[in-house]
Amino acid sequence: MYQELGGEEVINKLVDDFYQIMSHDPKARECFETHAGKDLKESGEKLKAFLSGWTGGPQLYLEKYGHPRLRMRHFPFNIGKREGEQWLYCMNEALQLSTISQSLQLHLMEAFKNVVQMLTEGRS
Ligand code: HEM
Repeated sequence: MYQELGGEEVINKLVDDFYQIMSHDPKARECFETHAGKDLKESGEKLKAFLSGWTGGPQLYLEKYGHPRLRMRHFPFNIGKREGEQWLYCMNEALQLSTISQSLQLHLMEAFKNVVQMLTEGRS
């Protein structure tokens, strides 16, 4: 999938657009607020590294930070249904600014929804 979506360059732009949208769009305010005190550039670097390996490319996250353990790493943040929906909203908007094909966008969104569900399960 990594090659099909365009590799590093496309992932980097996707994540830059994603955080750009999250930090400016009022529809994503609560999701943005969960990042309070974080350097968004660093958050973006982590997400880029993660998506590289997750889509079948170089395992950059694993090399730099170890096993992702996403549920555990998100536990300290106030993440509920609303934040999850806002995360998906930002990602969907960012995907539309990308060169990724429509069918791959849909596939990625389904996969992102599953991760969000896993992260928000049992949280309100
Ligand atoms: C449910 C909505 C989500 C919210 C509100 C959220 C929020 C956050 C926050 C606040 C951080 C910490 C940023 C930092 O340490 O700089 C973070 C880290 C991260 N998030 Fe999310 N996230 C969400 C969903 C996701 C999803 C769906 C993925 C993957 C597909 C993801 C991947 C990551 C990764 C890889 C990190 C870095 C973890 C680390 O190294 O500490 N997140 N997220």
